[in-house]
Order: sequence, then C-alpha cells, then structure tokens
Amino acid sequence: MTVGVGLIGAGVISAQYLANLTTFPDLEVRFVADIDLERAAARAEEFGVPASGTVEQLLADDGIGIVVNLTLPSVHAEVDLQILAAGKHVWSEKPIATSAADARRVLDAAEAAGLRVAVAPDTVLGAGLQTAFRAIADGRIGAPQTATTMVLNPGPDRWHPAPEFLFQAGGGPLLDLGPYYLSTLVTVFGSVARVSAVGGIARPQRVVESGPRAGTTFDVTVPTHSALLLEFAGGGSAQATFSFQSALPRAGFFEITGTEGAIVLPDPNMFDGASQLWTQRSWRGVTGQDQPEPETIEAAGPDDGRGLGVLELARAVAAGVPERASGALAAHVLDVMLAAARSAETGTTVEVASRILTPAPLPADWDPTERTLP
Ligand SMILES: NC(=O)c1ccc[n+]([C@@H]2O[C@H](COP(=O)([O-])OP(=O)(O)OC[C@H]3O[C@@H](n4cnc5c(N)ncnc54)[C@H](O)[C@@H]3O)[C@@H](O)[C@H]2O)c1
Repeated sequence: MTVGVGLIGAGVISAQYLANLTTFPDLEVRFVADIDLERAAARAEEFGVPASGTVEQLLADDGIGIVVNLTLPSVHAEVDLQILAAGKHVWSEKPIATSAADARRVLDAAEAAGLRVAVAPDTVLGAGLQTAFRAIADGRIGAPQTATTMVLNPGPDRWHPAPEFLFQAGGGPLLDLGPYYLSTLVTVFGSVARVSAVGGIARPQRVVESGPRAGTTFDVTVPTHSALLLEFAGGGSAQATFSFQSALPRAGFFEITGTEGAIVLPDPNMFDGASQLWTQRSWRGVTGQDQPEPETIEAAGPDDGRGLGVLELARAVAAGVPERASGALAAHVLDVMLAAARSAETGTTVEVASRILTPAPLPADWDPTERTLP
C-alpha cells in the first residue's frame, strides 16, 4: 500500500520536495499545509496535490502516515511534536531543533509513541555520496584518518526572499550548512568526541537582496563564519569551515585521507557527482614528472533529489528496519554544532557526549522509481 504523505511549510524548498515526492510510486502526497493558506494552496495546485489548508486539517487526515516538516528551524521541534501527537511519522528539514533539549523531547516523544523521526539532509542518500561511502567501505582509501572540508559563499541574503532565519538563532552557516558536511563526516568516521572552533560576524546587519522584500535591513545575531576542528571517538580528525561571508564561493570542498589513499567527495549539498580517488603512489614529489590523474568513480544509484529520505523512511517503516537519516544521527550532529558554537564563545575545547551507530550504505540498486510496498 502506498504511504500517504503530508507536507507542512510551503516555502522555497517545498517545490524541490514536491517535484520529487509526487513521482515516487510508493508515496502519495495528499496535503500541503502552511500558516499562509494561500501559499499552501498555490503549491498544492502547482504539483497536483489534492488538498491544502491548516496544519490541524492535515493532521486530521487518517490517510497520512508521514508528515514532512519544512518549516523554519525555530519551530521544527514544536511542529514535530504536533505531528507525533497525531500519531504520524516525521521527516523534518534540518536542523532537527535549535537546542539539544528540544531534540531530546522530539526523540523521546517518538519513542514513547512507537513512531519514527527522520531528518534531512537526505543528500547523504544520493548517488554521489553513497558511491563514495561504498568505495570507502570497500577499503579503497584504507582506514579513514583525516578530512578537510569547507563551504564558503557570500550568504543566502543574496538569493533567499526571506533570509533572516539564516542569520539568527538556529541559523548561520554552522546550523544551516553544517548538517550536510557533518552528517557526511559522521557517516564515514562515526561519532564526534571533541570540538574546537572559532567564529565571527563580518557585518552586524544585512539587506534582503531578492524578492518582494528586497532592500529590507535585518540584524545578524549568529556567526557568519565558523571554523571547526573535530576529533572522532573512534580515531581520526577533521577540519571544517562554514562561511556566509566570503566573496570567493567554494561549494562542496570535501576530501578524506586514509592510510592507503585519498578521496575527493562530491558536494554534500547535492545528490549526484563523481568522486576522485588518489593513491599514495600517485604522487612523485614537487619536481613532479608526469603526475598521474586520479581515478574517477562515477556516481551510481538514485540522484532524484530532496525527498529520497522520506521514501527511505517509508520503506524502512514497512520493512521494520531503522531508517538511515535517523533522528538520532541528526541529534548528534546538532550536539556537534552546538558544541562548536560553545567552543567559539568560550575559547575552550568542548566534549560531545552523544554517540551514534553509522548507517550502512544503500544497496547500489536501490530504486525510488520502483513500487516496493504491497
Ligand atoms: N531554501 C533552501 O534552499 C533550503 C535547502 C535545504 C533545506 N532548507 C530547509 O528547509 C526549511 C524551510 O526553508 P525554506 O527556505 O523553504 O523557508 P521559507 O521561509 O521559504 O518557508 C518556510 C515556510 O514555513 C511556513 N511556516 C513557518 N512556521 C510554520 C508553522 N508553525 N506551521 C506551518 N507553517 C509554518 C512559512 O509560512 C513558510 O511558508 C528550513 O529548515 C531550511 O533550513 C532550505
């Protein structure tokens, strides 16, 4: 039986979700809700979803089994708790919450009700990163030792029509972009044990640059640059830089070095992209007679985009197995991000207490376009 899906939050990202969710045969999108009823109705019409309205109306639909929460970070936990109270599984956009206590409340409520909470990013389930994870699991770089990663750009005030939330509590490049990079790191290295970080705010005010509110000034209240050093509980370390204040954009810079080689991963904010594999023997020194090219590993598997995690959740519930983009993993990533924020504020290294089990790679033939549910 197909799983009924409802979507709360008909903003910018809902278009990408609906474009994909409405094509998966295992799912049936039944309802779009928003506090802005006109926006919900317009999105429903655009993607042929039969109903739209309030959150309460959505939650009263007995045909909906999973609710996709695409509201703002400041209300993710509150909306998740409403969804769980209505007896439905949750897929939430990232971050899971803006405090560890709120994340705990959501996970405890789900456990008490026998329901699931799965959380973005689902880019980690895309063909690009899954292919890289399989190469690492196959031992292509030996044992992972270190990682270097960064994402830098001028900031989403350049393009988002309502960017304030990305520069205030619950936002900043750390909480907005960190989940993509940190979820990828913990999938490869396991739990983070300790974090040191520095951060800063280049400009205390910004201006909305696109959309009907262009020209509106707003305050920046969280760091727009965060640089982290991470130590993993099982060994290994990483450095990660997240910035909304660089005129020089760098997207998806992500390298992992192991005992036998190094791998350049595709952009963790994307679902596709090849990886490049280097072996220790590739390099012959700076005098460098003919440097060999790295081996390109083309992405294999689904690259359908946002919504893959909702489908994986639906199939995991049906199979009675854990979902990969789990709430526990998201809560650990939140712990790491909050530890980094505290480290930058206090000038100390901060311990991270939570631990996760790393999800196994998806089978290479996992197919979103197949009907798998009876
Ligand atoms: N915009 C992107 O490119 C992007 C990409 C990936 C993830 N995300 C994440 O998706 C989420 C939404 O981002 P967005 O850019 O679509 O934001 P947005 O501001 O465009 O849309 C948010 C929508 O949620 C609605 N909303 C807010 N509170 C609500 C509530 N309590 N009940 C019902 N509706 C409510 C708003 O009315 C609005 O329509 C965020 O968590 C963001 O981090 C955004």
